[in-house]
Amino acid sequence: MTTDNGRPAIFITGGASGMGLETALLFAERGWFVGVFDVNREGIERAREQIGDDRGHFAYLDVTQADAFEQAIADFGAASGGRLDLMFNNAGIAASGMIDDQPWDEIRRIIDINLMGVIIGVRAATPLLRQTQGSLCLTTSSSSALFGTAGIGIYSATKHAVRGLTEALSIELKRYGVRAADLLPGLIDTPLLTDGIRAMAPAEGAWRLVHPREVAETVWRAYHEDQLHWYIPEELRDFHRAVVDKPEAVRDERAGRKSAI
Ligand code: NAI
Repeated sequence: MTTDNGRPAIFITGGASGMGLETALLFAERGWFVGVFDVNREGIERAREQIGDDRGHFAYLDVTQADAFEQAIADFGAASGGRLDLMFNNAGIAASGMIDDQPWDEIRRIIDINLMGVIIGVRAATPLLRQTQGSLCLTTSSSSALFGTAGIGIYSATKHAVRGLTEALSIELKRYGVRAADLLPGLIDTPLLTDGIRAMAPAEGAWRLVHPREVAETVWRAYHEDQLHWYIPEELRDFHRAVVDKPEAVRDERAGRKSAI
């Protein structure tokens, strides 16, 4: 299918659920052509029903597979009229466990999806991003990239890596006129969260439960404004300042708690 070249286009990994799905819905509502890519086939079909084939491209993609990713970008480019205005490297998993308890295959899987999947996505998308004026390469990092979260140390490590990668890309990709930014979400009410974490979230402040629609609105702002790090909610910026000023105080305060939040 070839679409109107006048429509801006967004490619979303992990687009079948949570923050990715909300972002797909919001951008489709606002006239963008949306690419929904995921390993969740039922979720992809649900997204297709909600958005419609005239407003999007819906396909299975495992972000850890480099060849498949390049093919997905080629298919998307053919459907979007050769443009990619926003590449949203968002897919991720969160398996918890202390470092000495977590099995090796689970550790490798988290790194493969959360970090290698983003690296593969950025490399695959760069040629099409270069072709599209004013384009943005956006990644989903996490508040776990501000201070490592006990009990999800490997996850935190991948999200730190994604933040560092994005900072480097924000300079590297400038030579092609492509911008880079990341999301630093706190607790977003998606299927990724356990019921235990959801129940412990406070009503207010940096660690309140945020609706994924707020993330979608932030993706919208990230495209339209020039900012490198997006805190969701904004109060996380103060937490980040506290981490930089007094990491030992943050460590000691967290070590005294029953839960990571
Ligand atoms: P979600 O579980 O609702 O969505 C994640 C999607 O990624 C799922 O549809 C899943 O099928 C897909 N996925 C998993 N492995 C994949 C693979 N190999 N290839 C392609 N797709 C794959 O969770 P949510 O919350 O929307 O997560 C999106 C991103 O946000 C993740 O990177 C997550 O780490 C990050 N994040 C989430 C937070 C939260 O509180 N929910 C907080 C901070 C960051």
